[in-house]
Amino acid sequence: MNVAIITGASSGIGEEFVRQVARQTKIDEIWMIARRRQKLEQIGKTVKKSVKVIAMDLQIKDNIKQLEDMLKKEKPSIGLLVNCAGYGIRKEFSKGSLEEELGMIEVNCISLTALTYLCLPYMQKGGRIIQVASAASFLPQAGFAVYSASKSYVLNFSRALNKELKKSEIYVTAVCPGPVDTDFFLISDKGSKMPSYKKYFMARTDQVVRKAIADSNRKKSISIYGVSIWLLRFLTRFI
Ligand SMILES: NC(=O)c1ccc[n+]([C@@H]2O[C@H](COP(=O)([O-])OP(=O)(O)OC[C@H]3O[C@@H](n4cnc5c(N)ncnc54)[C@H](OP(=O)(O)O)[C@@H]3O)[C@@H](O)[C@H]2O)c1
Repeated sequence: MNVAIITGASSGIGEEFVRQVARQTKIDEIWMIARRRQKLEQIGKTVKKSVKVIAMDLQIKDNIKQLEDMLKKEKPSIGLLVNCAGYGIRKEFSKGSLEEELGMIEVNCISLTALTYLCLPYMQKGGRIIQVASAASFLPQAGFAVYSASKSYVLNFSRALNKELKKSEIYVTAVCPGPVDTDFFLISDKGSKMPSYKKYFMARTDQVVRKAIADSNRKKSISIYGVSIWLLRFLTRFI
């Protein structure tokens, strides 16, 4: 049984990964991970693929242990891991709560690293890992300091891991979207307004995910959707 594991599967980019991966004939079952069980079940019912709903908070260490035990028991053959769960809070560092700031690191970095580590022994030759980073990873961002730093971690970790795993024929792609039209902004901009210029660069989830899957199939280490975000990456090398 060829399994795909997708975190952040209850909405936005992760939900779209579930929909597009479900159309791939080589995947037999999708393990969907996020906190909102009802949302996961609703989405699972709409795809024509066997799904396993795993409702859990990835910020809680005991839940990661539970996942480890599940993997040991079921020994799935993993063809694809998509680490998409994550969030950002746009606020000056000193004005946010410590819980919020550390939470971003726990979900965006620690759970992503743990899941990658735990899934690796079960990954097939030719398997793919897709790590959802962000264009925010390209340079430090005042007012979004911990989030952009957490995504720089994801980008650098993924690129290095891609090199390490090539000999095992496992390929890692870091996805670096600019603004994407999802619920992300309901959480990130509660404290302040999203910069209005971002609205002009807003992409759709289906566009970002289609490009990410195509880039992963081509064994690319980075996936960037849209000319403006490519240009941003190029310019940030000089800023
Ligand atoms: N939207 C953008 O503009 C944008 C741009 C670049 C990168 N990204 C990245 O894309 C990824 C997906 O975000 P999105 O835009 O699709 O936003 P979203 O719709 O808010 O999705 C976030 C997902 O992460 C899950 N999640 C959050 N905290 C979690 C936790 N503690 N435990 C388990 N699951 C958790 C959420 O599920 P539950 O709430 O059900 O737990 C949800 O499924 C994130 O990593 C984000 O940083 C987004």
